[in-house]
Amino acid sequence: MKRLLKGAGLLLAALIVLVGALALGGRLWAMHKRERVVNVAVAAADLPTLEGATAVQRGRYLFESRGCANCHGPDAGGRAFVNDGRGMELAAPNLTRSGVVARYEGRDWARSVRHGVAPGGRPLLAMPSEDYTRLTDADLAAIVAYLRQMPERSGGEARIRLPFVVWVAYGFGLMRDAPERVDHGLPPAQPVAEAVTAEHGAYVASMCVGCHGAGLEGGRVPGNPPHWPPAARLAPGPGSVMANYPDADSLRKLFRTGLRPDGSRVAVMPFESLARLNDVDVQALHLYLRHGR
Ligand code: HEC
Ligand code: HEC
Repeated sequence: MKRLLKGAGLLLAALIVLVGALALGGRLWAMHKRERVVNVAVAAADLPTLEGATAVQRGRYLFESRGCANCHGPDAGGRAFVNDGRGMELAAPNLTRSGVVARYEGRDWARSVRHGVAPGGRPLLAMPSEDYTRLTDADLAAIVAYLRQMPERSGGEARIRLPFVVWVAYGFGLMRDAPERVDHGLPPAQPVAEAVTAEHGAYVASMCVGCHGAGLEGGRVPGNPPHWPPAARLAPGPGSVMANYPDADSLRKLFRTGLRPDGSRVAVMPFESLARLNDVDVQALHLYLRHGR
């Protein structure tokens, strides 16, 4: 009996050592992955430089309604947008002229925002570039025009602090960083008129794919905390949550209030941004989500 117990004890100790070694290996591999250099061919060699009130106004609208302000702060000065008090802290950097983007040129904006790769080939992690891969040249340039005329802010460094197990998961490829999530072969969208059409709706919906899936089929949001509910199916067909949103007005109410038609609260969605979507964008989005293209 004693020998049996001793054997079991040894086995357990060996197992613990093995798991520990695996975890450490995953953590080291995560560091290695973070330090790799990612080469992407940037589709737009150079973005057009836009100036003037129209571009700035469009840029401001996009910055506020497409999620940038949610994470980078309404003044673009950078801020923490996740801090769960248990080792997970995410802060997006200062995007004003005095921030990390001080020396950015057109192609740097395209590489970071659309592909998740910072200058020098540094992979971004939490930045949801997969939602912005399809931004048109004109829209990306408008965002840049808006940021370039924002009052400068000081500080506002990016911070990525994750619990050990999350780093291990990243090391083993269970959680992917921005360039791993982006489909780098997708060209920027061709501009379509801003109007209540399914084509324009599809363009607006390209900011929903990171969470709702490339085909808006819904399901678990990859790489996010286990307590997040799965994203709803938005694509037309059986099980589409859009059955509960018969008209554009009901969708607008969801975006403005964060509440379902039955009054219950919807989790996770970036309502601070979505509340800013204008009527044309919401109506076009609704048309596209209900009927497809
Ligand atoms: C969910 C939060 C989130 C949203 C939404 C978001 N960002 Fe970011 N962004 C980040 C974080 C965090 C980083 C820091 C790097 C990382 O992810 O590893 C970052 C990095 C960047 C960088 C790269 C800076 C560098 O290191 O060179 C740029 C540029 C940028 N974001 C622009 C934007 C723009 C423009 C938008 C909207 C179209 C946007 N971001 C939306 C979180 C976000
Ligand atoms: C940061 C991730 C994220 C983004 C970005 C996001 N969603 Fe969601 N969405 C979710 C999650 C998660 C749920 C499920 C929430 C729940 O069940 O409480 C959800 C639920 C929904 C629902 C169903 C609400 C209901 O009645 O249950 C609709 C409609 C929706 N999203 C539309 C959109 C649209 C349209 C966009 C883009 C304009 C978008 N979402 C962007 C994560 C996201």
